[in-house]
Amino acid sequence: MILPGLIDPHVHLREPGATHKEDWDSGTAAALAGGFTALLAMPNTQPPITDAATLSIALEAARQKARCDYAQYLGAGADNLAALSQLAPGAAGLKMYLDQTYGPLRLDDMTLWMEHFARWPRHLPVVAHAEGRTLAAVILVAALHDRPVHIAHVSTREEILLIRRAKERGVKVTCEVTPHHLFLSDEDIPSLGVGRSEVRPRLATPTDRAALWENLEVIDCFATDHAPHTLQEKDSPNPPPGFPGLETALPLLLTAVKEGRLTLEDVVLRMYTNPQRIFALPPQPETWVEVDEDAVWEISAAELHTRSAWTPFEGWKARGRVRRVVLRGREVFRDGQVLAPTGYGRNLRST
Ligand code: DOR
Ligand code: ZN
Repeated sequence: MILPGLIDPHVHLREPGATHKEDWDSGTAAALAGGFTALLAMPNTQPPITDAATLSIALEAARQKARCDYAQYLGAGADNLAALSQLAPGAAGLKMYLDQTYGPLRLDDMTLWMEHFARWPRHLPVVAHAEGRTLAAVILVAALHDRPVHIAHVSTREEILLIRRAKERGVKVTCEVTPHHLFLSDEDIPSLGVGRSEVRPRLATPTDRAALWENLEVIDCFATDHAPHTLQEKDSPNPPPGFPGLETALPLLLTAVKEGRLTLEDVVLRMYTNPQRIFALPPQPETWVEVDEDAVWEISAAELHTRSAWTPFEGWKARGRVRRVVLRGREVFRDGQVLAPTGYGRNLRST
């Protein structure tokens, strides 16, 4: 079975600053192994990517090490209002952290939201981490500025129903859901362990999870929110939130296709067509993914490429496996081996 090269609009690569968790090499290798030929990298690194100097640090690491195509987000802060609009064309988009998460980027003051919405170019993406009532607030502020906003990792019934209503009223809002919020719930916390199950947004109730499946048509993208931390960190007294997800997303969703929970077209729409349109990404010519749709296998961290070396889906049976990936005419992955050299990846925002 042949699929287009998938696009993940929500990935944490940890470089600069925490390359023991992941870097542009290991993270983009994991992407290719998962069938993703393009990813958009989040800005909550150390230092965070918030200005020209930090953007060029991230893009230089990417230029040297990326194995798949990419773009880098800028983070909205209190001090970088003036700097950002000039940098916007070279970035994946603007990320606004409006609720508690990993790292220092967080905007509480709504006047800052308004100023960022007023200044960031209208045709370039804005992604908001906004949960619960914060989601209602950011949808209003975006609508007042008559500009689109993309909502990261929707996880609850109230959120998906709010977005449904906003879309019905013509508000320019799009959204993504992660595989972990589609396949796990708070009932899995005891078996995962408290530290390992830490993630933002938190694992929600089975009712929330069911509401995501029932409102599939409201979900524009599946995005992994690949957030690698080491097992040592996850099992520590102060576990950081996040799950690696690049290498398990497609197999889990293909398994759900086999089970009749959604169609292959549903998957391609949300992992290729919609992300390419919403994030205004150029096409990747001569790029495709070959999948053995009947391969039954067991997910095992030992086989993954992510440096974080664990998965919340350890031992899950999947049906459907990535066999081969071709990116811009070159074989970049085959049967468990990443073949793209570091530096093969291109910045999708460079002109
Ligand atoms: O669980 C999460 N981890 N949620 C976020 O929003 C950030 C991410 C991270 O960077 O680790
Ligand atoms: Zn994230």
